[in-house]
Amino acid sequence: MVKKYVFGDPIDTGAVIGDISPCTEELCLLTQEKDEEGRLRFLLSLDDSDIVYGLGEAPRGINKRGHIYESFNSDDPYHTEEKRSLYGSHNFLIISGKSCFGLFVDTGASVTFDIGYTDYDRLVICPSENDLVIYTIEGESPLDIVKQLRKITGSSYIAPRWAFGFQQSRWSYFTADDVRRVAEGYRKNDIPLDAVYLDIDYMEGYKDFTVSEERFPEFKSFVSEMRDMGIRLVPIIDAGVKIEDGYDIYEEGKEKGFFCRRKDGSFFAAGVWPGRTHFPDFLDPEAREWFGSKYKVLLDAGIEGFWNDMNEPAMFYTDEGISEAAEYLKSFDFSCNDPNKFFELSGTAGGLNNRRKDYAAIYHNIKGRSVCHSRVHNLYGFNMTRAASEAFEKLSPDRRVLIFSRSSYIGMHRFGGIWTGDNQSWWSHILLNIKMMPSLNMCGFLYSGADIGGFGTNCTRDLLLRWLAFGIFTPLMRDHSAFGTRAQECYSFGDTAAFKGLISLRYRLIPYLYSEYMKACLHDDMMIKPLGFEFSDDEMARRTEDQLLIGESIMVAPIYEQNAAGRYVYLPEDMRLIIFKNASVERSELLSKGIHYLHAALDEVPVFIRKGKLLPLFRAVQCTDELDTSEPELLSYNSEPCSYLLYEDDGISKAADLPENYRTLSI
Ligand code: GLC
Repeated sequence: MVKKYVFGDPIDTGAVIGDISPCTEELCLLTQEKDEEGRLRFLLSLDDSDIVYGLGEAPRGINKRGHIYESFNSDDPYHTEEKRSLYGSHNFLIISGKSCFGLFVDTGASVTFDIGYTDYDRLVICPSENDLVIYTIEGESPLDIVKQLRKITGSSYIAPRWAFGFQQSRWSYFTADDVRRVAEGYRKNDIPLDAVYLDIDYMEGYKDFTVSEERFPEFKSFVSEMRDMGIRLVPIIDAGVKIEDGYDIYEEGKEKGFFCRRKDGSFFAAGVWPGRTHFPDFLDPEAREWFGSKYKVLLDAGIEGFWNDMNEPAMFYTDEGISEAAEYLKSFDFSCNDPNKFFELSGTAGGLNNRRKDYAAIYHNIKGRSVCHSRVHNLYGFNMTRAASEAFEKLSPDRRVLIFSRSSYIGMHRFGGIWTGDNQSWWSHILLNIKMMPSLNMCGFLYSGADIGGFGTNCTRDLLLRWLAFGIFTPLMRDHSAFGTRAQECYSFGDTAAFKGLISLRYRLIPYLYSEYMKACLHDDMMIKPLGFEFSDDEMARRTEDQLLIGESIMVAPIYEQNAAGRYVYLPEDMRLIIFKNASVERSELLSKGIHYLHAALDEVPVFIRKGKLLPLFRAVQCTDELDTSEPELLSYNSEPCSYLLYEDDGISKAADLPENYRTLSI
């Protein structure tokens, strides 16, 4: 049961659709008080048995207990344990233990969640402003609560099936020939591939909706040349529009007044990749419609997918910040002998990016009212992606377009997927990826994934192999890396056989993964679940954070430590272990409920098949165009009769136009 509690005069975030009447009685699941400054705080005593699930894209565990988090969409590539905010804000929690209920704190402003950090037995929610809505959701189980949240926030965006293919990206494919080399690198080595990403390098001077004539000549025919190889190109679109006289998007946006402003009415400016930019006011429906219509130029060139970036929005500097730093330097006493002053100096000169002060200086036009950005900060990326997605309804009415975003808020899951931003080539980031996936699923972000191999710092062969062995199970399976880092394509580490084996296995599994994904989309469910969601009476399962259920048939226990020969795994029920190598079953073993040591070499992928369930595998192919589901190989726990309902469609028509089409596979 969902109850809505309204505090003050909140701005509609767009997360919840449909009318829910506010409750007139007091919020009783949480204790409410005001701090010394008059700010609302909501408190809850936690029982020892309570697990706190949620927060979507956030650092740390599946169980969020023991840390403090702040929902404030942040461009921060160093996702270390002490961080409180990442790129998305997903203010949804489920308390599961002695009690079982969910909370959705709906506000575009920042919110702090102290989940047993100050006091292990207490949850304290501190919104930064007193205008907000809290939804409480009582349900039978965590999954029931997730489904109820989805009912009020809407069903998830559906990606095209080709987006389940393997995708290669890198910031620094400077020319069409660089992209051709990547495509050939994969095809030559028989490593399947469905897409190559175009980072900011494809643009002219990093200007949105432009393509460099010099480096990507005859773009349209280049797109179809790649398409003939079974490869789609996926260009990036950044939030900031370059300030440059004569650049049509800038000129139009300025003339129509579609950019964010300062308090004095002038257009707000901040430096991002193109240099000084203006930010389109995505909170204004007219500006949204205008920006969205611009994707047409790329769709017309044959493009079928996009990634929206820098939309927290990220700011490298502002004129205000630069002047303040210059003033500070001018008056700085370099002869002083005080280390603290020098620390302050480097902080001031080096701290020009993403300043809260600069965010507070941005103003939006919301229904004719000038609203300070701090009140709606977490909604900016959401509305950029909404702009694209709403435009695709008109520009591509019959065919799905791939769209995912870096920054997000609950509600954006109706319009697109997400990737989890700039991670690093660290082993700990495989684990973070594992833990984040079910939390994202809880909030409706079903089409999601991390930069496999790590975005920043240098990747190694073993790291990439282990990461791919997990990435096989995430809807977005994309290898992406930063300019200047070691090459990270699957053919960059010598012998390619192991890479070919892992990615071919992904393709053998795509019909199953897509089927499970579609069922989750169509029934407001989760495709990737923590063990505790299904084995709620099993304390070991509830506390397991590094194993996941992928759809109805399998459990995975990825290896995320360097030099490990395998890992310990907990089986909450009897299961069949299958070790895949070269995309085929290498060994298989029945294992009983309990703890086991699992051996798996770098080129092997362990998968656990659940009792009474079936895992269908199909022929390995080079790209999703070639998928053929006619002759499945059926793997099961044992030889007792069982069946699997395979969801199938053409992978591209809009779901609303499709009948739900299932095929029963049985042994
Ligand atoms: C941001 C994105 C990253 C991209 C880079 C250059 O850091 O998160 O994925 O490669 O910008 O566009």
